[in-house]
Amino acid sequence: MSPSDLVVALERARRRTEDLLEPLTDEQLTQQISRLQSPLVWDLAHIGHFEELWLLRRVGGRKAVSPEYDELYDAFAHARGDRARLPILSPQPARAYVRDVREAVLELLPNLSLDNGDPLLNEGFVVGMVVQHELQHTETMAQTLALAGLARRPPVRASVTGEVTVPSGPFTLGSTDPWAYDNERPAHDVDLAEFRIDRALVTNADYAAFVDAGGYRNRDVWSAEGWGWRKAEQADEPLFWDLTALPDAPVQHVSFHEAEAYAHWVGKRLPTEPEWEKAAKTTAADLEHMLGAVWQWTSSSFGGYPGFRAFPYAEYSEAFFGDEYKVLRGGSWFTDPLVARPTFRNWDLPHRRQIFSGLRCARDG
Ligand SMILES: [Fe+2]
Repeated sequence: MSPSDLVVALERARRRTEDLLEPLTDEQLTQQISRLQSPLVWDLAHIGHFEELWLLRRVGGRKAVSPEYDELYDAFAHARGDRARLPILSPQPARAYVRDVREAVLELLPNLSLDNGDPLLNEGFVVGMVVQHELQHTETMAQTLALAGLARRPPVRASVTGEVTVPSGPFTLGSTDPWAYDNERPAHDVDLAEFRIDRALVTNADYAAFVDAGGYRNRDVWSAEGWGWRKAEQADEPLFWDLTALPDAPVQHVSFHEAEAYAHWVGKRLPTEPEWEKAAKTTAADLEHMLGAVWQWTSSSFGGYPGFRAFPYAEYSEAFFGDEYKVLRGGSWFTDPLVARPTFRNWDLPHRRQIFSGLRCARDG
């Protein structure tokens, strides 16, 4: 990675942010569209603050632009639904802050030594982290826009049927990519039994059959936790369920509970995380939409691989390890290809469905 490669990556992420926010009014940027999401202007300034924190302060040794931002834009300090009431920057100062930080970063980058032995700088890791952080937030902002009815996905259609058998045997789970996150490392061999996985994602038409057959009232196909969620939420179809949507488009906005219930209903199950990754790495040519269509729920909880070391900070992934969060793989139609890699691990609570989430079924071989 040369400094000019890093500039290209930074600028590409920024273009995505600008393209998303440019058409919006100040009111759309500042309002609390949903308690599940931050006001968009918070995400915007938070992107700048993360970049300031890691590149200007941590790497560049600069002083804080405004010490109060550390608390205002700390994702752990305030729930998303409370952020509109904080004294956060309004759109114009937020844009100016983000722009000023970027200008200072572009001045700093040519002077950085990327092979001075600091693991943070090795291969430009910390810049890669800032780029991916921005790209991940653009997707969070796109979810907010979807909740406001302002985001439409491009037409994606499933065109294959049937299953692929993935033979038993070892494969390498995880990544050695220098920009991979700590949770993708260390790469290690895992031995799996034979399994079968669907060549296509579950479509709206597939899912409609489940809805029409009374799947949401069929206690037998839901887990105890899933049934409790369904009743409390009075869920009887996916979020934003649109019967005019393309029948052969992958279903999206389903929770883990719904994905699991659907898979049980067709006599299958969700793939485990290692199964999903093995399929993506060894049989990708036979599988449609492994990357970049909808996030695909797996049956696995989020945890560290054997030998995991938090790097460069525990709040990125380690703070979320445990049974509470389920892993999603593959990226959505909105996810930038830099993030939607076969080893990338996304995680969320099993009842969340404002995300662009769908599923692919698997079963034992
Ligand atoms: Fe963030």
